[in-house]
Amino acid sequence: MLEVLALQMAFGGVRALDGLSFSIGGGEIVSVIGPNGAGKTSAFNCVSGFYRPSGGTVRLAGQEVTGLRPSAIAARGLARTFQNLRLFGELSVLDNVRAGTHLWSKQSFLDALLHTPRYRRSEGESTDEAHKWLDFVELRGDRTGLVRHLPYGEQRRVEIARALARRPKLLLLDEPAAGLNSGEKAELRDLIRRIQQLGITIALIEHDMSLVMEVSERIVVLNFGRKIADGAPDDVRSNPAVVEAYLGRDADDDEIRDARAGISEKGADHA
Ligand SMILES: Nc1ncnc2c1ncn2[C@@H]1O[C@H](COP(=O)(O)OP(=O)(O)OP(=O)(O)O)[C@@H](O)[C@H]1O
Ligand SMILES: [Mg+2]
Repeated sequence: MLEVLALQMAFGGVRALDGLSFSIGGGEIVSVIGPNGAGKTSAFNCVSGFYRPSGGTVRLAGQEVTGLRPSAIAARGLARTFQNLRLFGELSVLDNVRAGTHLWSKQSFLDALLHTPRYRRSEGESTDEAHKWLDFVELRGDRTGLVRHLPYGEQRRVEIARALARRPKLLLLDEPAAGLNSGEKAELRDLIRRIQQLGITIALIEHDMSLVMEVSERIVVLNFGRKIADGAPDDVRSNPAVVEAYLGRDADDDEIRDARAGISEKGADHA
């Protein structure tokens, strides 16, 4: 579904991505983890067209998409959410999700201008589909009010609903658990599994290690813009290079033991 090959991306002197390669098979749930600044979001930004990589290749469902605009990559089946929410705060909850449907709805500008029957039909379909996805993410409460009036955890759900309304093949989630309480995290874990059951491939950036360990079939670990480990949760958890990446080189034995426990149970502590 996704193939990333030798990706390069630099900001001034900082090499955010330094020859990053990894792949994700159709239907998989793969987590991308690594310390702060490892290049995780940069990798998602290159894959989704928000950054243009200075080198390397991105293939989505077998087609090269390297350097295409975000809208062109979205049209080929990719949807994403953002580390910092990017909802339209001044639009209603429902309209935020309806915005996701415009990728596939067939109305033209002229239809919209003239309010043709096709326009009205298509608007009705968009609304139905938006409600369907808001039901799917189990959004409670009013859908006609401004999205910015919702509690933070609910806004995160709306963002996922909007991404699903694009009918993606591949969904990128950038820290979906950030700022959620433990009940909301449990619901997120179930939601991710239900999304997979729809046949959608999922790539997840996440610092919450219990969530990562529970939902991932495979974990890709980045450090300094490169892949340092790739494997099943149990293999990654016991990989010395991973523990070292989270700690730095000079950790003593006690710190390494604590970090292993953190990666395996409650999550590495990211200040
Ligand atoms: N737009 C940008 N301009 C300048 N530097 C950037 C930009 N985006 C990323 N970087 C730098 O690239 C490196 C990788 O950042 P990135 O955001 O990809 O890390 P990350 O793994 O997502 O970290 P975090 O876990 O903190 O979200 C960092 O050194 C960061 O400061
Ligand atoms: Mg990030």
